[in-house]
Amino acid sequence: MAAGKGTRLKSKRPKVLHEIGGKLLLTHVIHAAAQVVAPRDIVVIIGHEADKVRAAVGATGVRFVLQAQQLGTGHAMMAAREALQGYDAILVLSGDVPLIRPETIGGVRDFHLANRAAMTLLTAIPADPVGYGRVLRKSARSTEVKAIVEQKALSAAQNKIREINSGIYAFNAKDLWTNIDRLKTDNAHKEYYLTDLAAMLVKAKKKVVAIPAQTAVEVLGANTIAEMMDLDRSFRENKVRQLMAAGVSIYRPETVTIDAEVQVGADTIIEPFVQLFGNTRIGEDCRIRSYSVISNSEIASAVTIRPGCILDEARVACGAIIGPYSHLRPGSDIGENAHVGNFVETKKVRLGKGSKANHLTYLGDAEIGSGVNVGAGTITCNYDGVNKHLTRIEDGVFVGSDSTLVAPVTLGKGAYVAASSCITDDVPADSLAIARSKQTNKDGWARAKREARTAAKK
Ligand code: UD1
Ligand code: CA
Repeated sequence: MAAGKGTRLKSKRPKVLHEIGGKLLLTHVIHAAAQVVAPRDIVVIIGHEADKVRAAVGATGVRFVLQAQQLGTGHAMMAAREALQGYDAILVLSGDVPLIRPETIGGVRDFHLANRAAMTLLTAIPADPVGYGRVLRKSARSTEVKAIVEQKALSAAQNKIREINSGIYAFNAKDLWTNIDRLKTDNAHKEYYLTDLAAMLVKAKKKVVAIPAQTAVEVLGANTIAEMMDLDRSFRENKVRQLMAAGVSIYRPETVTIDAEVQVGADTIIEPFVQLFGNTRIGEDCRIRSYSVISNSEIASAVTIRPGCILDEARVACGAIIGPYSHLRPGSDIGENAHVGNFVETKKVRLGKGSKANHLTYLGDAEIGSGVNVGAGTITCNYDGVNKHLTRIEDGVFVGSDSTLVAPVTLGKGAYVAASSCITDDVPADSLAIARSKQTNKDGWARAKREARTAAKK
């Protein structure tokens, strides 16, 4: 069920397209479900901003049905009726209960089938049950349920019940479809509540059972931004625990922000306040120092990222050293054992094996060979205001400090560029290019000026 607007979020974005752990709520739920059934057997009920939701998760291979008007969770299931013909049993998940684990979904299915129930609900006892539907069991120790009562309809006595309905269910298809049209909207929200089916099925002498989740946190819903951030925190705590269990050292893990899909190899060290986002992959034996923010990048093994680096869609090969304060923008491809140092910005650059650009440099649209030394303050002038041009620096070139390389330009193998040159023409291999005005020294000029000043004061 993913058709709701998420009014309580006060957001322009539909609820299921909010993120926790850098991953859409709905993607979390689909990924979990897809480990229990095949994607083509997953039907996503969309409605509010349906096109956006469909576009965001379409690649997972699920099917969609449209609930054009959102008249409640019961109504959502009515909308899915046709798409679900041919199934004997149906698992229902909520698009806004994202931490659900595949094992738990499988557990609900197994419990449901073993009990031959008409309806099975997954429950939990969270620290704060306020806002959730409560579960009325036939007796305290019975697995059978009498009814689900929504928060707004709770009597004073029912208000004390701490067992909540997670919004995750299994249904016997026949029992679901023969009863669903009997739902009414005589409630606080004037909606068709799927939860009302519990009492309705019990009345029809059908079996409704409940199974508690192992931990409450995996069934918590995200109805408000604050709840969303709580879930984000739980998710990320779990993520760093998983990485540590796999041999990654994460210092002060509570300060580190790591997205769902990030992979990190064993024996890598992550220092406090590091952020790793998106599809980032980091190899073994690396050290990622504090305050580095790395997105969608691929870092091989034994790489050191010194403090304060920003990497976005970059690749870094084995043994390279980056930072402090380097900015590797999309298309940066840093070779084995290369060094990129302080205040160096790179974009669409291949920096070859063992090459160095250690200080205050901009390298954009460049192909740089191996063993190249890029002096402090070097700049590739890649943009003429209309087009971007390529700078080619072949193996073993030495670029003196404060040089500007006006692209398109090639520095041939083994060439040498004198410091502070403005290079506009290609430099042949093994030659020296000097492109700066010649220096003139005026003998005694400074002394004469000083003496003239002292004379004037007297
Ligand atoms: C629901 C349950 C409540 C349970 C809670 C658990 C009902 C009436 N109540 O309440 O017992 O404790 O979940 O999180 O079901 N949706 C649609 N179409 C609609 C309405 C909702 O697809 O017309 C979707 C929403 O996008 C959401 C899910 O159904 O993903 C749950 O809806 P929501 O409004 O959040 O229900 P709760 O008030 O949380
Ligand atoms: Ca909800």
